[in-house]
Amino acid sequence: MKLGHVIESQQFDRTDLEQLFECARQMEIVVSRGGSNLLAGKIMISYFHEESTRTRFSFEAAMRRLGGGVISSENALQFSSAAKGESLRDSIQVIGGYGDIIVLRHGSEGAAESAAQVSSVPLINAGDGPGQHPTQALLDIYTIEKEFGKIDGLTIAMIGDLADGRTVHSLAYLLTKFRNIKIIFVSPPAMRMKDKIKTYLDKCGVPWEENADLNEVARIADVLYQTRIQTERRQRKLADRLEKAAVKYTIDAKTLKLMSPRARIMHPFPRKKEISRDVDSDPRAAYFRQAHNGLYLRMALLKAILAPNAKIE
Ligand code: CP
Repeated sequence: MKLGHVIESQQFDRTDLEQLFECARQMEIVVSRGGSNLLAGKIMISYFHEESTRTRFSFEAAMRRLGGGVISSENALQFSSAAKGESLRDSIQVIGGYGDIIVLRHGSEGAAESAAQVSSVPLINAGDGPGQHPTQALLDIYTIEKEFGKIDGLTIAMIGDLADGRTVHSLAYLLTKFRNIKIIFVSPPAMRMKDKIKTYLDKCGVPWEENADLNEVARIADVLYQTRIQTERRQRKLADRLEKAAVKYTIDAKTLKLMSPRARIMHPFPRKKEISRDVDSDPRAAYFRQAHNGLYLRMALLKAILAPNAKIE
């Protein structure tokens, strides 16, 4: 597989995903052996205009585990010339000359696509405001496959802030690549899934429904994919109101009692109070495993872009 820019989930097909996941499985072995020099001499630029723990650290760890170098701006709005008013497109045209790949997180939907248009090197969308977060969806699907041994035929419930949560947007798009999937959206009315995504699911023949009753959904879903309210994208008062409205969707010990023993709880993190801590020790809580899978999946992605024909030693 040869990949260029990674901007949205829809760009992947099933063959891409199978190859990527096979490579990610091999990367788990590479890491257990202490890493590799597959990407020696290559430089990844991580250019983050918004905060991140998992995405930036796992991309940077992935590059270093494969022997490559990293240049990083973890707070580009303060410490890059974006603070002086430089446009994103000018910055991208310049920094593309310093490295082999750019990983961009930005606060505006569409920023990654716009940046990719002027980038001389492959660019990865590491989250563009309330738009998409395609590499999160890739690691989510990789996690589901590891946990269940399959993806086809599963019922996935997405819970919480479905309006502004970019991870659920990318996940919904990516699930259209699989067969006999059913999606259930669970959210307060003000945070419903976007119409354009529901229309896309209809076009792809993926059945979906909205259900406000988390207890009912917990009994039937294979995956409860919980998300936090994106308070940073809303005015304080509205954000507080929405967080209160979402309290009834908290996953806790009572939810665990309703779930099948084979079901799983996932969350892209960061978590606030939407999954109570007493759930963490239940084997169905897959969210820490999910976050760790990000390393292997992102190693596979970097290899697919920067060294597609290299043999993994
Ligand atoms: N899941 C995710 O994008 O986490 P970070 O914001 O910590 O990168």
